[in-house]
Amino acid sequence: MPAESTDEYSPIAEFYDHVIPYRDRPDVAFYVECALQSGGPVLELGCGTGRVLIPTARAGLEIIGLDPSPAMLAVCQRKLDHEPPEVRSKVRLVQGAIQQFDLPERFRLVTLPFRPFQHLLTVEDQLTSLAVIRRHLADRGCLVLDVFNPSLPHLAGSEKEPPVASVEPEFILPDGRRVLRRHRVVAKDLFRQIIEVELIYDITYPDGRREQALHRTQLRYFFRFELEHLLVRSGFEIEALYADYDRAPYGSKYPGELIFVTRKA
Ligand SMILES: C[S@@+](CC[C@H](N)C(=O)[O-])C[C@H]1O[C@@H](n2cnc3c(N)ncnc32)[C@H](O)[C@@H]1O
Repeated sequence: MPAESTDEYSPIAEFYDHVIPYRDRPDVAFYVECALQSGGPVLELGCGTGRVLIPTARAGLEIIGLDPSPAMLAVCQRKLDHEPPEVRSKVRLVQGAIQQFDLPERFRLVTLPFRPFQHLLTVEDQLTSLAVIRRHLADRGCLVLDVFNPSLPHLAGSEKEPPVASVEPEFILPDGRRVLRRHRVVAKDLFRQIIEVELIYDITYPDGRREQALHRTQLRYFFRFELEHLLVRSGFEIEALYADYDRAPYGSKYPGELIFVTRKA
């Protein structure tokens, strides 16, 4: 993990799997299908709580999950502890960062589901990470990653307007706590292509007590050709670019996602 990193996911790791836009994200079947096509072994970078990793292991694939966040990995491990031995035996969790991991295995597939690549804020980090990933791929192995396609109207929104927090549907934890989450963009750096997002979790206990948890994160946004050039420069061939996890092609909806399916050249 880079020396300056702190575990920004720590305050919200226990909520992550219950957040409705995360829980209902329609990407799991897509990533499991990529894993099945590759035949494994799979390396998932930024595996978090195992939202994608565990279904991949259940599908019978060997998978290593890497993440810098001890809190997210702890949630993943707790979930794995409830899986049958044949699923648990397929998984290994490693604490580490995309920029500087070193594993002895070589993988048929490396994935970064749900935007871990956007935590790499500088071109230096992005190029270093792609070189590390390439080194861990078997010959002609695949790299699949997604980032959001930046919405130009959203980016062009007036700097003078106070940022408005959008409220999401409430969710209830197994212990009865109710959580209402709001999110807002608190800063946009149009030169470094970084947005800073604040996710505020308002928690109400069954006895009425209230608490707040905060997740602040910086995300690097990428334009289509920028990421394409970066991947090609780093020794990857682009096999497909999708706007959604149903494999709708890039350009079929706006803004959509940028889902790159690439192969080690
Ligand atoms: C939005 S979550 C996605 C988690 C999981 N892939 C999923 O689909 O639910 C982003 C994850 O990226 C991880 N992450 C952040 N910086 C990273 C880095 N430098 N290397 C690897 N993972 C990183 C975070 O700890 C977090 O678990």
